[in-house]
Amino acid sequence: MCGIIGYIGKEKCLPKIIHGLECLEYRGYDSAGVAYINNKNIIINKEKGKIINLKNNLNLENESYIGIGHTRWATHGEANKINAHPHQVGKFTIVHNGIIENYSELKKMLEKNKYSFKSETDTEIACALIDYLYNKEKDILKAIEKALKTLEGSYALGIICSDDLEHIYAVKKTSPLIIASSKFGNFIASDVPAILEFTNKYYLLNDAEICILSTDKLEFYNQDLKNIKKQIKTFEGTYESAAKGGYEHFMLKEINEQDKVFKDTINYYFDGTIKSLEKNFIGFSKFKKIDIIACGSAYHTGLIGKSLIEKYANIPVNVEIASEYRYKKSFYDKKTLVILVSQSGETADTLAALKKAKEDGIKTLAIVNVIGSTIAREADEVIYIKAGCEIAVATTKAYLAQVAIFSLLAIYLGYHNKLIDNDDLKEIFKELNKMPSLIKKTISKANNYYDIAEKIYKNNQIFFIGRGIDYALCMEASLKLKEISYINSVAYQAGELKHGTISLIEKNRVVIAIATDEELINKTISNIKEVKARGAHVILVTNTNFAEKFYDDLIIVQKTHPILQPILTIIPMQLLAYKVAKNKGCDIDKPRNLAKSVTVE
Ligand code: AGP
Repeated sequence: MCGIIGYIGKEKCLPKIIHGLECLEYRGYDSAGVAYINNKNIIINKEKGKIINLKNNLNLENESYIGIGHTRWATHGEANKINAHPHQVGKFTIVHNGIIENYSELKKMLEKNKYSFKSETDTEIACALIDYLYNKEKDILKAIEKALKTLEGSYALGIICSDDLEHIYAVKKTSPLIIASSKFGNFIASDVPAILEFTNKYYLLNDAEICILSTDKLEFYNQDLKNIKKQIKTFEGTYESAAKGGYEHFMLKEINEQDKVFKDTINYYFDGTIKSLEKNFIGFSKFKKIDIIACGSAYHTGLIGKSLIEKYANIPVNVEIASEYRYKKSFYDKKTLVILVSQSGETADTLAALKKAKEDGIKTLAIVNVIGSTIAREADEVIYIKAGCEIAVATTKAYLAQVAIFSLLAIYLGYHNKLIDNDDLKEIFKELNKMPSLIKKTISKANNYYDIAEKIYKNNQIFFIGRGIDYALCMEASLKLKEISYINSVAYQAGELKHGTISLIEKNRVVIAIATDEELINKTISNIKEVKARGAHVILVTNTNFAEKFYDDLIIVQKTHPILQPILTIIPMQLLAYKVAKNKGCDIDKPRNLAKSVTVE
């Protein structure tokens, strides 16, 4: 996610702004910039890449006492200098964290009013809107208040205006923004780590509240522009704990971001109508076959995609590990769509598979998190997930967002192939709208999963079994567990156990059975009874209530439409793996031998 810092005071602003940006680096970024007031001019410096590139072009001793800074995690438009913040339009210069959902219609309105744009960002549109409203209202506060009522989506904004070089304006909706007053001066920041060097006391700006910062005071207003008093908060923790948002590990923080990530990802492609899916995915409907190529967890999202697209759209889907696919004979043709899935967009094997398909003239689509990454740039088409920066090596929120994209693709392709009708759509969309709260509720039951983790964390061998889409979920659940807890874990098709692997089942062997697909659930129950009969300790993960207790422990997942069910089912598995690894004292965010992005073959 982007990082915002602003300073106004009696000391030089640039050293404090750069320090603040460095303290926000953990949020992930691909460019950085500052705007500062010098001799009554607003000077902007911004650079692609790391903060050091910016620092090398700045004179930190510059006689400037007011400024705003930004680290950009690209959401709209490539990671480059033009798209880096701050953005300036007319009299306004702003930094922004969030996603403006109605930026395209605002852009059309502003272009009709003679505005033109240099960047691809939604932020520049927001800046132009404030300038446009200021030209009408002739009052900065009123212009910001009107902009608040016009912008849709999420934003935290730091704003300076050339008609008022004595103040910084700050406003937010959904994205975080804190305001701080210290003996060194006054600050705005996305998060506490940026100001801990100067103070641990801060104000939390609420949605639609506006703050005006001057050198020696802070003024707060509500959305009706009434002056309000704010309660001061004190941060008691360390920089490290602040960077994790108070969570003990980035992995846990990222698991807890999944409801927002789901919403941000879905809302970017879906406005509640099938037309919005059509607009975004129409190009993929002409293909008769799909190859999904990826590595690790991204490969596991492909297994989910296969199950959903084959079931709901009747399109044959082949899912392969990129390191195999890139060397083997391929049977694709012009009617095949090759989908590359990658969180980082830099995985060497996946990139090599992409290049092979392109050399053979096959259409390629990338489903990627990092904007402007190599795979995103090299593929013919790209669908970005909106997971924000994922720091923990073990992916959670990016996996969930990629699965959500496959759900959307299956819905659209099924509808296009007339296998999903309008009644089905109504039912699916009803469930889709409930998903953020269902995700949040599933996460909130963490203690249920933790109780089970207490029972199993000392095991050195844990099986996952399931059928169909539940087997695909077992694959991801097993990888999550083994990569952070180092427990030897394996996922098996439940029906396959009796062909050899069941010989490994002995007394107290832990078997986690995922059974949510109602068409297969009874078959899986038979397999559960087979391992139970041989002494296994069975943990059942299901969305169905059973009278008979044929298991030892139970994890109940809220039932939703099958096309969305995997999104909920994986969450207890993420938290179970997290707690097992925590009990074992493992380095959860940086497991041994692993890298976040495997850029070597
Ligand atoms: C998942 O938890 C692992 N970190 C790993 O399997 C990862 O999914 C794989 O390396 C693919 O990475 P990518 O999505 O960035 O291509």
